[in-house]
Amino acid sequence: MKQLALFFSCTLTILFAANVMAAETPEHSALTQQQVLGAYLARAGNCSGCHTARGGESFAGGRRLSTSFGVFVTPNITPDKETGIGHWDADDFWQAIHKGKSRDGRLLYPAFPYTEYTKVTRKDANAIFAYLKSLPSVSQVNVPNEINFPYNLKPLLAAWRALYFNEGVYTSDKSQSEEWNRGAYLVQGLGHCNACHTTRNLLGASEENSLNGGKIMGVNWYAPSLSSHSETGGSDWTIEEYIELLTVGISERAVASGPMATIVGRSLQHLSPEDTRSMAVYLKSLTENAVEAPLSAYAPVIPEKMQLRLDQGGKLYESYCETCHGESGEGVPGIYPPLAGNRSVIMDSPVNTIRSVLYGGYPATTAGNPRPYGMPPFQQIFRDNDVALVVSYIRNAWGNRGNQVTAVDVDRSRGGDH
Ligand code: HEC
Ligand code: HEC
Ligand code: HEC
Repeated sequence: MKQLALFFSCTLTILFAANVMAAETPEHSALTQQQVLGAYLARAGNCSGCHTARGGESFAGGRRLSTSFGVFVTPNITPDKETGIGHWDADDFWQAIHKGKSRDGRLLYPAFPYTEYTKVTRKDANAIFAYLKSLPSVSQVNVPNEINFPYNLKPLLAAWRALYFNEGVYTSDKSQSEEWNRGAYLVQGLGHCNACHTTRNLLGASEENSLNGGKIMGVNWYAPSLSSHSETGGSDWTIEEYIELLTVGISERAVASGPMATIVGRSLQHLSPEDTRSMAVYLKSLTENAVEAPLSAYAPVIPEKMQLRLDQGGKLYESYCETCHGESGEGVPGIYPPLAGNRSVIMDSPVNTIRSVLYGGYPATTAGNPRPYGMPPFQQIFRDNDVALVVSYIRNAWGNRGNQVTAVDVDRSRGGDH
């Protein structure tokens, strides 16, 4: 009980959640307090993001998630008795979210991030379940997963779980503040940040809560390390900068792009100010123990002949990019992200930067940035070598230092969702 009290400054969050719900979904005004809390927590876990097909009914499933192991098609989690979870009770739901087992005992694949959700308390899980039960029933039959051999073999999944799945509710770290623990609970649990921000081995397993950065499966994006100085989340970000990025989607030194824009837009911007601050406090603390050389120590020496390529890239920058990102890569606060001193531009993996240039993109639409300005795609205008030149340039201009990229890197960065 003590733990639950710790995780939940109940009244505040419920009040906040109730306000959000009332503002956004007036038809939900009949929800109980537990359901309101559940709606809030379901947002924090972005359940509908995965359990809603493009253009489909909310929570009715059918979204296809491609991974290296095959395609997973999310199930219907509305209370429909025939096709959804209408026959489930709170124990069945707990078995799914905490243990990764369906009602009939079938082992679930970790494409459902129960490896993170297992940290969620029983009280919070019950609230989410109560909310799911309050949703309109949608009759939509589940589509089977298309999992490749040998990953479709049941014993393999059982072995995988024995090796890599650590079941257990989050336990607080007594040496840290309540705020820090609340942030850790959200980041490690419902926020399932580690589902993307981590390196996976060949079996798709990751080190528990390492947040050490990695390529996201099936989507050609790199989710940076949240604990290293050389990637995103350097210890020089203030708590306010984290808060701004997580709620507005764009801050003075960064922008949440691609899959991260989706997470900010659908989930993080809806968290209460207290919860966002807790997350920021926890995230900032991750970078404080990193033992790494400061960024400048990575600076490669630029050989003379490379300078020519940088000059060519600089010309392209002047003609195509400068109007928005500025003469010195300074951007325009809240509108165009800076490229100078922007860690996602200089980090080791150039894939996100290349993708931004090829495909363009939009930051999240949020209350703090209701009409985000977009970046145009350049794939029709630039050849691969032009993209390589301009990306190499912005990785090395205005005090930035990063490896130069080639047309081969550009080609490799195509594909996947964008
Ligand atoms: C990253 C995508 C993703 C997110 C986010 C996600 N799920 Fe799922 N979920 C899945 C997939 C995929 C499966 C099916 C796994 C399988 O078939 O083995 C699943 C299965 C389930 C099941 C089991 C259904 C059944 O019929 O056995 C439940 C219940 C469930 N999810 C609830 C939730 C809730 C609640 C949340 C939010 C807290 C959530 N999911 C968030 C992808 C996701
Ligand atoms: C669906 C995958 C996914 C999930 C889940 C996810 N992220 Fe990210 N995140 C990304 C990607 C991809 C990037 C790199 C793109 C970018 O820079 O915005 C990123 C970037 C970031 C950045 C740096 C942004 C920048 O530009 O410097 C922060 C901070 C961050 N994520 C925090 C989080 C936190 C906290 C969570 C959990 C609440 C989370 N992420 C969950 C995919 C994800
Ligand atoms: C019309 C204005 C505009 C132009 C022109 C433009 N950009 Fe952008 N750029 C943006 C906006 C807005 C974003 C944020 C979009 C997003 O995050 O998806 C952005 C994002 C980026 C990012 C991602 C930054 C990050 O932190 O993730 C890079 C890299 C980038 N631009 C490089 C370029 C380059 C190189 C050019 C020229 C070839 C260019 N941009 C031209 C507006 C522009």
